[in-house]
Amino acid sequence: MKRLLVATGGGDCPGLNAVIRAIVHRASKEKEWEILGSIQAFNGVLWEPTEVLVLDDDKVSGIHFQGGTIIETTNKGGPFSWPIKNKDGSWDEADRSDEMIRKLQYMGVDGVINIGGDGSQRISQRLFEKGLNIIGVPKTIDNDLSTTDTTFGFQTAVQIATESVDKLVTTAASHNRVFFMEVMGRDAGWIALNAAVAGGAEVAIIPEFPYDINIVKDALEKRFHHNRGFAVVVVSEGARPKGGTTATVSNTEVGYHNVKLGGAAQKLMKELSEAGFKHDMRETVLGHLQRGGVPIAYDRVISAQFGVKAFEMALENDYGKMVAYRHPDFISVPLKEAVAEPNLVTPDNALVKTAQGLGISLGV
Ligand code: F6P
Repeated sequence: MKRLLVATGGGDCPGLNAVIRAIVHRASKEKEWEILGSIQAFNGVLWEPTEVLVLDDDKVSGIHFQGGTIIETTNKGGPFSWPIKNKDGSWDEADRSDEMIRKLQYMGVDGVINIGGDGSQRISQRLFEKGLNIIGVPKTIDNDLSTTDTTFGFQTAVQIATESVDKLVTTAASHNRVFFMEVMGRDAGWIALNAAVAGGAEVAIIPEFPYDINIVKDALEKRFHHNRGFAVVVVSEGARPKGGTTATVSNTEVGYHNVKLGGAAQKLMKELSEAGFKHDMRETVLGHLQRGGVPIAYDRVISAQFGVKAFEMALENDYGKMVAYRHPDFISVPLKEAVAEPNLVTPDNALVKTAQGLGISLGV
């Protein structure tokens, strides 16, 4: 009997269950493979008692269109930074990676499939360097992992953001207002840029292009004639003004290492007011709506392809790699390459040129 352990780590993302289902269904076509699911990323392995369940065809039947992940996830802690509470109530972190690898050996696990974003794949690479047989699957609505054409979940987030632009356009037009819609994506502007093009927004503000407030103001004023007009501005949560900083909120959750972004749209509105922009402004923060609910068909299809390929890589002992989509193929790339550089929007990107061609201001 060969055993493969599946874990989902980082923020949840539409398509996670479709990947899990694909791994299990593909594995059941082979003799003598058992698929285990670790609850909450690697916590399930590290907890005492362990929380690991057997994933069989029955368990994953029909989950391809369910949002979230049936084996839960976490973006806190992890095998290299396990939170430990001190007697005085403060917290330290312990490296439990060696212990986890030993435990996996004891459990008879031959390989691991780690479905996660950049943080999770960095953990995969470090575990691989320690000798663990591990394969990564690129998950994130942010689409910020390089070496793959796209990550799963991203297009669903773009769809949700686009539908929201569509809705804001009608209320903005009715009230002669400017709406600022803040979207996720961390340091990558892919969701904002795609939603702005698909939804016909007037302005897209993305982290890669720090904005000039006067350029944004001019672009918006051009939308008004004798106080009549409207506009929709899509703002990435990681946006920042030229020479300025991103808007952040504090987070005291134990083991949470990410900088928590939030308030970019509000910051932009405040700066516009200070620059003398007079029209009515309103803000909508999409937040986790972008991650919840059913994956669109495109994400279900690529999730299935990512899952089948990941299992086949395990069959071929192709470890230390991440599945990557290179249209129309699904290939394996070294994890080291996958985490080397983030996938960010560059000025020469074709979609940037399309946005500019459409007259969408990028605030620069
Ligand atoms: O990386 C995915 C993501 O949704 C980012 O776009 C966002 O900044 C972050 O996760 C939010 O994380 P949390 O779920 O901890 O609020």
